[in-house]
Amino acid sequence: MIDWRQGAVIYQVYPRSFQDSDADGVGDLPGITRRLSHIASLGVDAVWISPFFASPMADMGYDVADFCAVDPLFGSMADFEALLAEAHRLGLKILIDQLTSHSSDQHPWFIESRASRSNARADWYVWADPKPDGTAPNNWLSVFGGPAWEWDGVRRQYYMHSFLRQQPQLNFHCPAVQDAMLDVMRFWLDKGVDGFRLDAVNHMFHDAMLRNNPAIAPTGAADVPETNPYGLQDHRFDKSRPEVVGFLQRVRALLERYPGRIAIGEVGDGDRSPDTVRHYTLGNARLHACYTFDLFGPQFSSPHIRKVFAAFGEAATGGKVCWAFSNHDVMRHVSRWGMPDDPPDALAKLAIALLAALPGAICLYQGDELGLPEAELAFEDLRDPYGIRFWPAFKGRDGARTPMPWEAHGEAQATNAGFSQGRPWLPVPEAHRARAVDAQETVEASVLHACRAALALRQKTIALRTGDIAFLDAPADCLAFTRGNGAILCLFNMGRAACTVSIPPAEMLHTSHAAVQTADALLLPPLGFAILAAQPALP
Ligand code: BGC
Repeated sequence: MIDWRQGAVIYQVYPRSFQDSDADGVGDLPGITRRLSHIASLGVDAVWISPFFASPMADMGYDVADFCAVDPLFGSMADFEALLAEAHRLGLKILIDQLTSHSSDQHPWFIESRASRSNARADWYVWADPKPDGTAPNNWLSVFGGPAWEWDGVRRQYYMHSFLRQQPQLNFHCPAVQDAMLDVMRFWLDKGVDGFRLDAVNHMFHDAMLRNNPAIAPTGAADVPETNPYGLQDHRFDKSRPEVVGFLQRVRALLERYPGRIAIGEVGDGDRSPDTVRHYTLGNARLHACYTFDLFGPQFSSPHIRKVFAAFGEAATGGKVCWAFSNHDVMRHVSRWGMPDDPPDALAKLAIALLAALPGAICLYQGDELGLPEAELAFEDLRDPYGIRFWPAFKGRDGARTPMPWEAHGEAQATNAGFSQGRPWLPVPEAHRARAVDAQETVEASVLHACRAALALRQKTIALRTGDIAFLDAPADCLAFTRGNGAILCLFNMGRAACTVSIPPAEMLHTSHAAVQTADALLLPPLGFAILAAQPALP
């Protein structure tokens, strides 16, 4: 049996929007527990649950006021324990979302830290004096708009926040902060969680000399929309500092005391992401893998995938990258990459098959298995402060966060597609109702069934889980690669014209609509794909 961490298949749950069980319009932990059988039915190994910790919810739970408590909105600690037990009974691992770089401004640590310059936690956050003219200490920017500094009248200093001002940056240069964070992780490991997704892990340290970031021309990297001036800086001083690795080694040393656990770091670092990821995952004493943003951009083509793999080098081929096409922070890929004339569902099915064929860990976002498009929301519906701030040039992240549609029939209208008896915190789009889980269950050709087939193939095919990857040249916009020393051939037509690949007949393991095999060729329609058991030689 292989170690579950090799080539793991992860499913991301955004708890606010998965399943409500108490009619308050917000998803919760008992709701997730109720739906774990759906997740297990997909054939995944693990579930990553976005934050459910005590929080004022300024950033929908990514602003944590107590790292070791469940927010009552989501349930109780007993509810989490029940979720964990049920997941384990179903053979699913549970990964929690460990905030590392910041807390909420309502966290007792910050309340104490801001009270004076001399209290026991005075240096637990990043405090700095103003410049002589009263302005912020340097030019660092917040990802969510405006300067990364907020004035505090009591301390008469600025504090740093890479995200919202309600998310003050922890000072990891302070050893006590590192120890406190490791204590939090120990708390959850003792509870039985199987690992962590470390949020914004490269933001943990800042340059102690507070040097200004240099300007750069926008790189078009997928982690920051073009409308955001954050993309005009080279973030060499406010993030991805060399000290991060030292802390990651401490995290790994802790995890090694709990067999079979995993740590995956989220790294958004513009053009530097591949280097940062290699650095954070080198050898066996740092992170197991890093989750990157590199396939979250608008580019959808065979050359782009090859370019990304080439940039990540041995981190990608060695299984140290966790790939995803969508999550709660980006536009859903069906809308991002889709074109009006695409055959129905073809892109959603191709994306899942492609993800399932990649080396490393892979991560599906809730609703990927239904082929959900991005929700179109009115400004009045928005809840994401990032979107509210940048509207209308950038609509924020709510379009990817609307509730899961479970039911299309029966009481579906009254229960908001089976999500909640109450008014959902974000509306359920009409277009999503028709794609509900129960509607797709009964249709053999649905995205849901194609998803199960693709993941089942990955799970039973060692070459797809752990084998090497070798890219092959193929015609037009066809992405071609083999896995496991040529044991499996994977062909994805990422273009909108049919493409013909000259290969001898081979056993078809998983395929799209209308792929046609002849004696010496395979014809793939637009967005068609084929995964074959073969050792063919492409021309
Ligand atoms: C999370 C975001 C969050 C940010 C700040 C991220 O990368 O995925 O949803 O807003 O960290 O915590």
